[in-house]
Amino acid sequence: MSDKPRVLSLAQPTADSLHIGNYLGALRQWPPLQDQYEAFYGVADLHALTVDVEPAVLRKRCLASAAQLIAAGVDPTRSAVFLQSHVPEHTQLMWVLSCLTGFGQASRMTQFKDKSARHGSDAANVGLFNYPILMAADILLYNADRVPVGEDQRQHLELTRDLAQRFNARYSPTFTVPEPHIVRSVGKIMDLQDPTAKMSKTSSSPNGVVDLLDEPKLNAKKFRSAVTDSGRDIVFDEQNKPGVANLLIILAAFTGRSVEDLVEGFAGKGYGDLKVAAADAAGAEVTPFRERTLELLGEKTELEQILADGAEKARAVASRTIAKVYRKVGLLRRG
Ligand code: TRP
Repeated sequence: MSDKPRVLSLAQPTADSLHIGNYLGALRQWPPLQDQYEAFYGVADLHALTVDVEPAVLRKRCLASAAQLIAAGVDPTRSAVFLQSHVPEHTQLMWVLSCLTGFGQASRMTQFKDKSARHGSDAANVGLFNYPILMAADILLYNADRVPVGEDQRQHLELTRDLAQRFNARYSPTFTVPEPHIVRSVGKIMDLQDPTAKMSKTSSSPNGVVDLLDEPKLNAKKFRSAVTDSGRDIVFDEQNKPGVANLLIILAAFTGRSVEDLVEGFAGKGYGDLKVAAADAAGAEVTPFRERTLELLGEKTELEQILADGAEKARAVASRTIAKVYRKVGLLRRG
């Protein structure tokens, strides 16, 4: 086992393809962390059951998500790449942690409140309520030091830290209290057709969302028909020119150049040039990503083997943690 600190993150298999918002805001940060950390990266398939999903669709999305993690640069020879449901210790630890979580505290999770408000309290199932506790279990099981997530997961991470501290105080030091690794270097990626809304798979127009697994030609077209703003100068003004600002943020993210630098370079040029530049920069990274993903999905047996190996690596750590936790809370060992 390595003596490096640990990093862990899971992605929910909620769509057939990630879009560039998911990719730039989250997944792209994962591979570089493999150098300094022992990494556990997985697919939160149990979390995906909190919303209604066709079994066949879920199966497909789980494999597609795993393939996309690997295509993004998560290296299964260095990191544990696994499906959450393949490591039963996640749900075992969730139960123990749920017995340490106040009902009031769980009820205050804003993502739960938002989702249940949107769907109605009958549509919001108990799984959705327990979702943050399962997430805490995902993290604490591996004593992760670092957890790269998006801003929307900050409160869940706070709960995780709180539960770790509570368990440690009540029993004895057991869990690492994890640090969030919230990516802020990349601005929020907005919908290309409605640049005042975050790019999201539930967007009103599919043309506003650039899916990583779509045909490169289609994506280039989406960039070319992105909504821009009145005027013609390329300046960075999120308030008054959200469409142009969004394209600049995307271009900056894909080229590694600063927005200021890009604005300088576009002096005297028009919106069309910016759209083409953004399409080209995105395409240069996304096209090989897509090819690699499709290749992995075409070798299903190998992909399944990678996931089986990943689950084994994960379980080596997880089973030790759960044995320790069960012992500390007073559960007897099976004789
Ligand atoms: N809830 C996270 C999201 O929607 C996904 C997730 C589940 C996760 N378990 C996790 C993220 C553990 C980090 C660590 O993005």
